[in-house]
Amino acid sequence: MNDIKKYLDNKNRNIIFLDEIDSTNNYAKQLARNGESSGTVIAAKTQTAGKGRLGRSFCSPSGTGIYMSIILRPDYDMETVSLLTSCMSVAAARAIDKLYGTDIKIKWVNDLYLNGRKICGILTESAVNSHGKADFAIIGIGINVKSVKQFFPADLLNIASSLEDETGKTFSLSEISAGVINELERILPTPERCDFMEEYRSRSCIIGREVIITKADREKTAKAVGISDKAGLIVRYSDGTEEILTSGEARIKPLY
Ligand code: BTN
Repeated sequence: MNDIKKYLDNKNRNIIFLDEIDSTNNYAKQLARNGESSGTVIAAKTQTAGKGRLGRSFCSPSGTGIYMSIILRPDYDMETVSLLTSCMSVAAARAIDKLYGTDIKIKWVNDLYLNGRKICGILTESAVNSHGKADFAIIGIGINVKSVKQFFPADLLNIASSLEDETGKTFSLSEISAGVINELERILPTPERCDFMEEYRSRSCIIGREVIITKADREKTAKAVGISDKAGLIVRYSDGTEEILTSGEARIKPLY
């Protein structure tokens, strides 16, 4: 990862490399609270307590994946902050497709899929200031790059995979990381304009599918019918009513 600057558009970006950390998001939050400037990236070879959404863990074997977090100090309101996960989804999908020639799909709200398996997850965390705006936001991304077959437990291998396992192609972690940062940089100046939402929708693998929604520990079945301009999942229930989900989880029901 030390040669990442070679591939970065912005050669002045501050990047902190760590051999091991509990979670790059936790580390980034600590730095941000201590005044670290916007744009700093924290990348680790391995995480001992990588975090996913909804309190889940993110398996982070040493040297096989990209585990990185970007500190942002934007003058965004919290509604715009809630779009950052979707911005990163599109940025990472674009970067991976450019390198691997793949067709990466996005599963609302924060997962990237290849050949029906999860290869990437995104976790955005933020702090609000006294004016109701973001004090800072941390976008964390984990990408399974090298083969995970010998590292992931069998139940995880049923749903997750890696770029190498799915394509047989090999790229350096630095090249992919830099590609993701470069693409994010192109989207980030104006996330509130939601220009990236058309691409987010066209990459969605959930629209048109039956889903099981988990909200406040209760499960409901619905059909995912669209993604709103603010990245909410539009679902239709069997009685015809529609709802826009902005949190929680939607699991795609298997076709058979
Ligand atoms: C998910 O799958 O729900 C999100 C996973 C996000 C994982 C990344 S790895 C880098 C950063 N640090 C963490 O602890 N989590 C994110």
